[in-house]
Amino acid sequence: MQHYLSINDIDSLPDWVDEARALKIDPLQSKSLGKDKTMGLLFFNNSLRTRLSTQKAAMNLGMEVIIMNFGNEGWALEYADGTIMDQGTSEHIKEAAKVVSQYCDIIGIRAFASLSDKEKDEAEMVLNGFKKHASVPIVNMESSVGHPLQALTDAITMAENSNKAKPKVVLSWAPHPKALPHAVANSFIQMMQRQDADFVITHPKGYELDPAITKNSHIEYDQEKAMENADFVYVKNWSSYADYGKVLCQDQKWMITGEKLGDAKFMHCLPVRRNVVVEDAVLDSNQSLVIEQANNRTYAAQLVLKKILEHLK
Ligand code: CP
Repeated sequence: MQHYLSINDIDSLPDWVDEARALKIDPLQSKSLGKDKTMGLLFFNNSLRTRLSTQKAAMNLGMEVIIMNFGNEGWALEYADGTIMDQGTSEHIKEAAKVVSQYCDIIGIRAFASLSDKEKDEAEMVLNGFKKHASVPIVNMESSVGHPLQALTDAITMAENSNKAKPKVVLSWAPHPKALPHAVANSFIQMMQRQDADFVITHPKGYELDPAITKNSHIEYDQEKAMENADFVYVKNWSSYADYGKVLCQDQKWMITGEKLGDAKFMHCLPVRRNVVVEDAVLDSNQSLVIEQANNRTYAAQLVLKKILEHLK
């Protein structure tokens, strides 16, 4: 594998899940693979889990890690060709990507959607800019459209916690005071479309995600009906896709409660706003898998880096 940009870069999801679970049992099994190699992590947005778990994953493979908070410490980058750069941008992606490639053997990029310009967001300007102009592999640490490290993590976590051949999995929208991107939900849906599961998406009307992503996935607007007999309830807020980036609803009736959850396991990528997205009683119960999800971020990232390093050999 050369790059890890989306769920589509996974050839066999069941095999990857098994391989990641094997890494979790013996995280230092490939400690010499990344010797004398450098992982560069570039953050255009905040992070806790992605930053530390990807760093840990690289360290487990024997790599050195360098990190830059590009959003507030780097020069403002220009992405368009032929621009007269006499305004706010100081450095072109053409130089920046080539320069960073000289310092790193693999580059991870986190660059969220602006939520103000759908066309630019869908063009994945930052991620694709680095892919185009860098000379080393690129890992998507959450872009405008996808968060494939999180989705791989979620597949691992469900496999660890499922005893059914075909579990019922619900992706539920939940309220949030701020406009949030679609990336986590998009990659989760793409991952679920590759699983043998009874998969249902539930959200208020107006929150339909990109139909090119949801395809023929089952959408149920009645949250309680969607959650009936669920084995896993994956919860995430996202802003409107059709009315791009807008918050259309903050109806607290969509918050996840223990009563609604029933016997299902609760999943969320974190960070989560307590008693807005989900009530304390759920997060503090043993039905919540959120801490184990965060733990599995390391092994998802480690598997991705391992596959890239094996390709570089
Ligand atoms: N889930 C996730 O990507 O967490 P961070 O934003 O903290 O990295």
